[in-house]
Amino acid sequence: MKRIFSGAQPTGNIHLGNYLGALRNWVELQREYESLFCIVNLHAITLPQDPQALAQKTRDLARLYLASGIDPQVSIIYVQSDVSEHAELAWILNCVTRISELERMTQFKDKAGKQREGVGAGLLNYPVLMASDILLFQTDLVPIGQDQKQHLELTRDLALRFNRDYGETFRVPDAFIPQAGAKVLSLSDPAKKMSKSDADANGSINLMDDADAVRRKFKRAVTDSGTAITFDETRPAITNLLTIYQILTGQTTLEVEQHFAGKGYAALKSEVADATIDFLRPLQERVRGYGDEELDRILAGGSERARHIARATLDDVMQRLGLDGTRRPNRARE
Ligand code: TYM
Repeated sequence: MKRIFSGAQPTGNIHLGNYLGALRNWVELQREYESLFCIVNLHAITLPQDPQALAQKTRDLARLYLASGIDPQVSIIYVQSDVSEHAELAWILNCVTRISELERMTQFKDKAGKQREGVGAGLLNYPVLMASDILLFQTDLVPIGQDQKQHLELTRDLALRFNRDYGETFRVPDAFIPQAGAKVLSLSDPAKKMSKSDADANGSINLMDDADAVRRKFKRAVTDSGTAITFDETRPAITNLLTIYQILTGQTTLEVEQHFAGKGYAALKSEVADATIDFLRPLQERVRGYGDEELDRILAGGSERARHIARATLDDVMQRLGLDGTRRPNRARE
């Protein structure tokens, strides 16, 4: 069975873009692939985090995975820092990565801004940790939104380079980027993607937003000039609203356009809000349904299973590099 791996950072608020671009596809794909879904808290600390809030958000995100339909009987759900092999492989891959490759990453350039000197090295090395996540599990397919595509390309480059230099070690993964929902745009600035780190709270629909907040944010959403309600790349704001509506109602683009023919922007906004509220309500109920004990049991089981797979890859990698793993103190217990 082929394998998928994906993850999200437990920072900020998880929003509709994360769901439509990624989580939704994880749920769909988990029956066809052996699946691992990780809460990537080591990525989160590449920017300063409040420790208590990070711990809380890590658990909240695990609940969201489950509530979205990730089935822990089928898929492996776990927290990145519970499987130390991620960090170990990241160090090794750092040694085969060029600084210039990392400096080229658009996400690094965006996050680092102009003042590069004061930026943490973790932010630069972030994509190496992401490559490690993926390569540790000999992943075939990585379901992600558009914004992670460049990181996946780097992952492929690193796998190919390592395989060339040290022999066939890693499977070279492909990205799975959905046709619809790969880049959900900010409601308040459709030139930007919907983002967890956006200072403007009105740009994102968070998965835990209540009905009033959802209605208010859609009502204030920026629209394009004109009146037509059609999917049209040159009119990103309206296309964004239509895409959200289309995915949440499960209709085709043609059905959606026919539905809104002759209607105005106010009706569009109000119907997208209704569809979103109808989607979020049961999701939020399910989130609240997972108790701490159950969550701990699922995450502990997940990390155990993940570690087993990860260790096999890492042992192979270490052997190829001449790093003898047989002296590890806990080796005998494994
Ligand atoms: P993160 O936490 O920023 O986002 C989680 C997933 O949501 C997608 N996404 C979006 N999709 C559509 N429209 C948007 N506006 C939008 N914003 C975010 C992201 O593409 C992502 O799939 N580096 C990753 C986490 C990560 C990872 C990995 C992913 C770490 N290791 C290994 C896959 C495989 C990140 O920061 O995602």
